[in-house]
Amino acid sequence: MNIDKKRANGRYYTCGNPFQLEPFQRWAKESDLEQQIVLEPFAGAKNIPQLIDATQLECQDWKFYDIEPGAKGIVQRDTLADFPKGFNVCITNPPWLARNSATRRGLPYPESTNYDDLYKYALEQCLINCLWVAAIIPEAFIRSGLFQKRLCDFISLVPQKQQSTNLENKKRETSSMFEDTEHPVGLALFAPSYTSDVRIWRNNKLLGKLSELRQHLPLPSSNRSIVFNDPKGNLGLFAIDNTVTASIRFCPPAELGEYQVKTQCRSITKIGVPWNVDIDILNTRLTTIRENTYDVFLTAFKGLRRDGCYRRRLDWALARSIIDVENLQLTMRLE
Ligand SMILES: C[S@@+](CC[C@H](N)C(=O)[O-])C[C@H]1O[C@@H](n2cnc3c(N)ncnc32)[C@H](O)[C@@H]1O
Repeated sequence: MNIDKKRANGRYYTCGNPFQLEPFQRWAKESDLEQQIVLEPFAGAKNIPQLIDATQLECQDWKFYDIEPGAKGIVQRDTLADFPKGFNVCITNPPWLARNSATRRGLPYPESTNYDDLYKYALEQCLINCLWVAAIIPEAFIRSGLFQKRLCDFISLVPQKQQSTNLENKKRETSSMFEDTEHPVGLALFAPSYTSDVRIWRNNKLLGKLSELRQHLPLPSSNRSIVFNDPKGNLGLFAIDNTVTASIRFCPPAELGEYQVKTQCRSITKIGVPWNVDIDILNTRLTTIRENTYDVFLTAFKGLRRDGCYRRRLDWALARSIIDVENLQLTMRLE
């Protein structure tokens, strides 16, 4: 299938199996999956029920819908416009399509929503209509702050390297979630009622509660005297990990040599800071934040680093709050 056609319907089918993970297994018990008729409103080629079967979980039955069914037994319907009613449980991987990507490529995007990505609109429909929702969505969702009242668990799905000697298996060593995109993905699990906090997982490893992880972030800074993309800046920043390890770091601007600062650039920059910066202290703060928050608040990139983690980017807002000397003084007073 042509890539723009896939994009138009957000059509990347699920292949990896996140349903074997402990948090999903618990969610399945709590939602009484065995007794439920489960809704898959964006069914594609019916991959999700096969994955659930493979984990030995059972449900009473499934009901499938898709605007463009990819297998038999799927009702053809635009479920975004006319969402199926009467289901307690929904398990899906909805269509993903960023509004700006749709505009750039001339693809249709529903006018009935202000969300910047189709998956948010699709997820909202699932949550309005169903009590229990499990959805495979972009990993970035956890930083969006959306729909958190009923979110009980969020799992960052990191492809695992499987040890194998057999050549055929070696080709599949890293079990990616999708056939044709390595977009960082997560599995969001929602309950019928308000949850007091969200458990954050990396596969089967519990990283902590969202509110606890947030406590390791510096206070937000609105200090506009710290100027990003300043060609004469006194601080350099490599804001994106390399493909090997967690390599984001502050550096002396001289290390960037003749590098020409570009206003749109989000990977390497020079920063104007109106005081003498201690680069070692900034890098120590950055490392501590990364270790304590497991990078949950840094944007992940396509493709894994050699150490098995997603490459991450430090955005300007968090960089500013790390640099801000007032924050630094406050943190020191608290320590
Ligand atoms: C990301 S794919 C996932 C398919 C399947 N859930 C899976 O995990 O393999 C999203 C699916 O949503 C379907 N879709 C997109 N827009 C839709 C709409 N408005 N109504 C119903 N299905 C839609 C696409 O045709 C595609 O099959």
